[in-house]
Amino acid sequence: MTVNSFIKRAEKYNLPVSQVYDLISFMLNIGYSEAKYTFDKEIDDEAAENVLSQLEKKEPCAYITGRREFYGREFIINRNTLIPRIETEILVEEVIKRYKDKENIELIDICSGSGAIGLTLMQELNISFLTLLDIDDNALHVSRQNAEKFNITENIEFVCSDILNYTTEIKYDIVVCNPPYIAEKEYGFLQEEVKKEPYHALVAEDNGLIFYKKILSNFKNLCKSNGVIFFEIGVSQAYSVIEYVSACNLYAECVKDYSGNDRVIIVKNSKRGI
Ligand SMILES: C[S@@+](CC[C@H](N)C(=O)[O-])C[C@H]1O[C@@H](n2cnc3c(N)ncnc32)[C@H](O)[C@@H]1O
Repeated sequence: MTVNSFIKRAEKYNLPVSQVYDLISFMLNIGYSEAKYTFDKEIDDEAAENVLSQLEKKEPCAYITGRREFYGREFIINRNTLIPRIETEILVEEVIKRYKDKENIELIDICSGSGAIGLTLMQELNISFLTLLDIDDNALHVSRQNAEKFNITENIEFVCSDILNYTTEIKYDIVVCNPPYIAEKEYGFLQEEVKKEPYHALVAEDNGLIFYKKILSNFKNLCKSNGVIFFEIGVSQAYSVIEYVSACNLYAECVKDYSGNDRVIIVKNSKRGI
C-alpha cells in the first residue's frame, strides 16, 4: 500500500497530522521529518493493515508505535503508562522558568508514569537528585528504560510506592505531580482511545481530588522550607484545589494552558515569589 493510500484510509480516525506521520515513520522505519515527503513510497501491506486494524479497535497511536514526543524528546511508552499530554508541557515550562539559574536542585516526580516530567526536568535543569515515584512497577520500568535511553541514570532513584501512604526522609526543593484526576463518575464519558490507558493512571477518588489533598497535607514533610509543589489539574478543579491549599495555610498560583483552561497550580508556604 502506498503512503498516500494509507493516509486516505486513516482519515476516518481523525488523528492529528503529527500522529499520522508518526505511524508512517514507524512503519517505514524512517525519521519523522522524512515521513512527510514519502507519499509514493510503499508500506508493507501486512504492516499497514495491522496498524489500520489497531486504529479501528481504538488503539492509541502511541501504543502502536511505542513512543510519544514530549518537550522535544521521544519517550518510550507502552500500555502500562499514561501517554504524556501536550498540556503537561505547561507544567514543565513553569518549573524551568523559575529554576533555570538554580543549582543542586532536589526534585521528586510523584505519579511519574513514563518519567516524562521528571526526566525532562533532569535534562533541562541542574538537578542533583531526582526521585521518580509511581505505584505501578511496570510504569516505573518504562521510566527506567527512558532514563537509560537518555543516558541519565545517575542520581535518580525509582520508588515503587503508594503516595497515599508514603513517608520520606528526604525533603525536596521541587515536587512535580500530574496525578490521576478524573472523577469516577466522569470515566464513562471518556473517549474509547483514552479508556485504553490504565484506569489507575486516570481516575482518582474523592471527585478526582484525593491526590492533591494527600500531597498538600504532607507539604511540610515533602518540601524544604522554600520548597514548591507544581500540580497539573483537570479543567474544573482549580477552585477546589486552591480552597484546599488555603485550608492547609499554603499559597497558590494558577497558570492557564494554551486553550485558556486552568492547568497548573503552584503551591508554596509563603506569599513571596519563587
Ligand atoms: C496521570 S498519570 C501521569 C504520568 C506522567 N507523570 C505524565 O504526566 O505523563 C498518573 C500516574 O500515577 C500513578 N499512580 C496512580 N495511583 C498512584 C498512587 N496511589 N501512588 C503513586 N502513583 C500512583 C499511575 O500509575 C500513573 O503512572
